[in-house]
Amino acid sequence: MKITLRLIVSLTLVVALVATVFSFYQVREERIRLTSELERRAILLAESLQESVIPLVESGSLERLNRLVKRFGNRERLQGIAVYDSQGKPMASTADLDRRIPGLLPQVVRAATEGQPESDVIHVGERKIYLYAYPLVHKGQTIGVLALFDDASYIDVRLADIWRNNIIRFVILSLFVVAITVLVVRWSITGPIAQIAVWMRDLRTGKTKGAKPDILPHKDVILDPLISEVSHMARSLAIARARVEEEAQLRLHAESLWTASRLKEHMRVELGGGRLFLVSNREPYLHAKEGGKIRCIMPAGGLVTALDPVLRACDGVWIAHGSGDADREAVDGNDTLRVPPEEPAYTLKRVWLTKEEEDGYYYGFSNEGIWPLCHITHTRPVFRLEDFTRYREVNEKFAEALLKEVEREDSPLILIQDYHFALLPRLVKEKRPDAKVALFWHIPWPNPEAYGICPWRQEILLGMLGADLIGFHIQFHCNNFLETVDRFLESQIDWEQFSVTRGGHTTIVKPFPISVSLESLYKAVTEEDLPKVRVTREIGFRVESLGVGVDRIDYTKGIPERFRAIERFFEKHPEFIEKFTFVELGAPSRTHIKRYRDLAAEIEETVEKVNWRFQTKNWKPIVFLKAHHSHEAIDPFYRASDVCMVTSLHDGMNLVAKEFVASRDDEDGVLILSQFTGASRELTDALIVNPYDIEEMAEAIRLALRMEPAERTARMRRMRTVIKEHNIYRWAGSLIAELARLRLPVPSGGGTNPAEFLDES
Ligand code: G6P
Repeated sequence: MKITLRLIVSLTLVVALVATVFSFYQVREERIRLTSELERRAILLAESLQESVIPLVESGSLERLNRLVKRFGNRERLQGIAVYDSQGKPMASTADLDRRIPGLLPQVVRAATEGQPESDVIHVGERKIYLYAYPLVHKGQTIGVLALFDDASYIDVRLADIWRNNIIRFVILSLFVVAITVLVVRWSITGPIAQIAVWMRDLRTGKTKGAKPDILPHKDVILDPLISEVSHMARSLAIARARVEEEAQLRLHAESLWTASRLKEHMRVELGGGRLFLVSNREPYLHAKEGGKIRCIMPAGGLVTALDPVLRACDGVWIAHGSGDADREAVDGNDTLRVPPEEPAYTLKRVWLTKEEEDGYYYGFSNEGIWPLCHITHTRPVFRLEDFTRYREVNEKFAEALLKEVEREDSPLILIQDYHFALLPRLVKEKRPDAKVALFWHIPWPNPEAYGICPWRQEILLGMLGADLIGFHIQFHCNNFLETVDRFLESQIDWEQFSVTRGGHTTIVKPFPISVSLESLYKAVTEEDLPKVRVTREIGFRVESLGVGVDRIDYTKGIPERFRAIERFFEKHPEFIEKFTFVELGAPSRTHIKRYRDLAAEIEETVEKVNWRFQTKNWKPIVFLKAHHSHEAIDPFYRASDVCMVTSLHDGMNLVAKEFVASRDDEDGVLILSQFTGASRELTDALIVNPYDIEEMAEAIRLALRMEPAERTARMRRMRTVIKEHNIYRWAGSLIAELARLRLPVPSGGGTNPAEFLDES
């Protein structure tokens, strides 16, 4: 109320001041106008009368003079006329006038002696009279004065009217100012602040878990920065609360649970004050230009989803390719910046690649060569020498950037990610044998026969074996890798320790199943905005049951197969028409490669075909939302869906499956999961399917939609326990602990000899 009162008082004072100044000037102008109008009229009358009066004055005919003044003396507003002699003494006047007006008037005397007209406002009784004294000149001599007495009191009446009207206007204006101030303050300041206060109180007392106050009906320029800050605070509070709960559970479960804070503590002990260095091709945050503005986004893909919480928990440096078109504008002189933007927790260092390097290294060798080589999906790898040359050069470029970053660190811990950097571990170890290097391979590893078609099979293996530790998601891929090394390199393999020794250097090969965090960092839905309501708004129609698929558009994900299964499902179970809709959130990926463009076209065609066959006026069997969706945008789809389908033809782990389970704190929803994903080894309570078997998948959809609620809950609960215990913090914790505890051989005479790594063959 205080602010409203202050606003009202100051606005009213300003309005009053302005109104007074304006009224004052208006009154002054009006007074001048009315007086000069009186004067003009008096001059006209005096001039027209003088002709008749002068001869009478001159001849001294007082009687005729009296008749004349009587005839003219009672015109409108004229109070009277009088004629005076050259001394200023009255000669004739209209009746009554000599009684009211004193004998000698100084103005008249002055007009008579000076021969100039005189005017003045005089008071006669209670009236104000305008006196105009006009000298009567005959043959150059002033022989008398003609005086006109006009009523001037109407001027005061008129000026008082102006004041009164202006005061009424001021009062009305002030009332409007008060009303509008009260409304605006209520509507845009006190009202929303009161809502935010209620929302924050609910949050503090745990009544709501909403991470964003979706309570304001419109965008508000004044409050938006506050709301955005409060949202971040709320999110941190929600996360902190979840962590505290987890910590409590941790104590109950005899330390079997890993949390962000436990990882942080663990890292502090393992690193002894040192930092963690992580290298990946894809950066966790990229800056892109959008309609003249720069937006910071998190790219799609399991790798960044998994590793961002790890770096958030332990700080460190993440080195990655700066691929956003506004990336250069966001970094400092050392090409680094602190991320995430809203809550900086670690350093991102961007490495710049030329178009040719990106073509050969990323699109070419990584994604047209190694990616199809490692995923058994019947897409032929393409190997080009120029691509491999670029791949080697880019690995060298990253080695240089990384070595510069670790320059001042003693025995730094380095985590290299994925198939883009098979050569990097060796390049680093050659220069820094004291570094502890792990390579985590996020995709499957094929059997030796499949791998053997790669023309640079030995160089790749040698590059990888530069690492002290190589991680895969599952034991099966570790076994494939060791068999591959056995087949193509001279080395000593220990099948008990799962290690390879070559040239005096040992590499441990172990499974570390990657995961997500159960406490979602990306949850966006508030209790005011239910997931189903949001999804209905997005797809444009209401439906009883929902299915969801979330993928990078990649041929390994089995997306056309999934759609064919949905078609078969409606064919076999038409009772689900208009009852069930499948929403596919597909993020375009690697579209520079023809195979990916062909796949995108195939997917569009399949969706079109299935929809054409079954759609009705207000319903579609498949809604394909092709775009990059943020984690916050995906979350409501996970939570609103009855079933989530992950149908990869081959997949290292697949984190969509785990994210779906993590998001279901309502313990509902069914997961249909391909047997060819790493996740199927852990999430055995999903409905496990062979994605090539369309009949089986169609049947799984029916089973999922018909499953009893109790069974759904029991399965989801068990899957959530798996993820709770085997979360991303455990993954990072065990990988880092394994690496940190490795005992490196003492270098004899200045480092590892690069030649020791090389295979002569
Ligand atoms: C998936 C794979 C990761 C890989 C990533 C690359 O998430 O599981 O192993 O690093 O794709 O995707 P990108 O869009 O960077 O090519």
